[in-house]
Amino acid sequence: MNAPVDMDHARIAATTPLDRLDPSNPAIFRDDAWQPYFARLRAEAPVHHCPESMFGPYWSITTYKDIMQCELAHKVLSSDSLHGGISIRDRDKALRLPMFIAMDPPQHDDQRKVVQPIVAPDNLAKMEGIIRARAIEILEGLPRNETFNWVDRVSIELTVSMLATLFDFPQEQRRRLSHWSDCATALPMPGGLIETEDQREAALAEMLGVFTGLWNERVNAAPRPDLISMLAHGAATRNMTPREFMGNLVLLIVGGNDTTRNSISGGVLFLNENPAEYAKLRANPALVETMVPEIIRYQTPLAHMRRTATADFEVGGRTIRAGEKVVMWYISGNRDPAAIEEPDRFLIDRKRPRQHLSFGFGIHRCVGNRLAEMQLKILWEEILQRFPTIEVVGKPQRVYSAFVHGITDLPVRIPG
Ligand code: HEM
Repeated sequence: MNAPVDMDHARIAATTPLDRLDPSNPAIFRDDAWQPYFARLRAEAPVHHCPESMFGPYWSITTYKDIMQCELAHKVLSSDSLHGGISIRDRDKALRLPMFIAMDPPQHDDQRKVVQPIVAPDNLAKMEGIIRARAIEILEGLPRNETFNWVDRVSIELTVSMLATLFDFPQEQRRRLSHWSDCATALPMPGGLIETEDQREAALAEMLGVFTGLWNERVNAAPRPDLISMLAHGAATRNMTPREFMGNLVLLIVGGNDTTRNSISGGVLFLNENPAEYAKLRANPALVETMVPEIIRYQTPLAHMRRTATADFEVGGRTIRAGEKVVMWYISGNRDPAAIEEPDRFLIDRKRPRQHLSFGFGIHRCVGNRLAEMQLKILWEEILQRFPTIEVVGKPQRVYSAFVHGITDLPVRIPG
């Protein structure tokens, strides 16, 4: 179902008439062939209209500068799920999931404030020890001289364990979190994780049931610094409908799951593809500090965020009309040579490594950005203490999606 078909991406990207170029085709990302499509768009049509795609007509914003302009224009570019939400795929209105990433002010701002304290410096400091202990446990349990899937053994394990900590969710059931997250984002397709929207709804209903149990325990107890307790006690969230609770759970689980997971996997891959950088890191482990944001830029775990124009809007010399769909391709902005020097190179000692779009910008900028960076930093510190090298020994398999930009399989071997 999801087997790569032979597509000559370089030729398609170069020869398709510009007005029919469609960078939203998920195969482009599965085949890791997105670069020539976006390089052409940045050069020839940085604000580009695609009249027909599997997601309908949409505008692409592909340069760093134009993406920043759109991010700051939240008054006319709506995130609200009533208009279509934040990903290129329109959801069936009846299955709409309200969540604060897909809301506009003032409701967005009020709900965001409720969960913001989860990443307050004192809370992050408390989590650091837990994350480090888990990272050590996971790394110590890895086999030597044997091929295994890094994604499953490390990236997923570490991120779901952190999510369980954020929610104060039973650690022994943590894999249910990644299952629900995967169900929430999967494209329905025959033989896929979910085949129909009904199956997605069933998985999310199961998630809601489990979390409602935790909510009921915590709503009558004293407030605690976990996400469920925060939502149960927060003025803007304590009266959420079950559907809204479901939506915000999906936001917090997906937000903290796929993204960090794919940055963990990406780091191992990029160092293998760039042995000189790996050597630099071994010689100077303090470079973890600048390498972590570089991994996040280079991976760009969410390829885009989408907005919908609520009024006519000018960007890059083009006029987007009210009602039209606007896709801000972070993955392209992060490779824009007008904003980032040598953007196609993975360089672990960049001078301004945090100059990237992977966390978005403006009022929706990622709540968990410091937490994600902290997790990656701790992991790499502990890796460098133990393993001089992690060898990628097979071809990575990638997610079939134009939204989640990720790796499902990364065969590695740690020499013993
Ligand atoms: C929002 C990326 C980790 C929670 C976002 C946005 C992006 C993003 C692109 C939308 C920004 C925009 O529209 O301007 C990432 C990446 C991560 C990551 C690349 C890891 C490398 C996390 C973690 C959490 C989290 C660990 C914690 C639970 C959220 C939330 C929002 C968000 C709650 C919604 C913010 C709002 O709408 O105001 N993230 N994220 N993210 N992220 Fe993250």
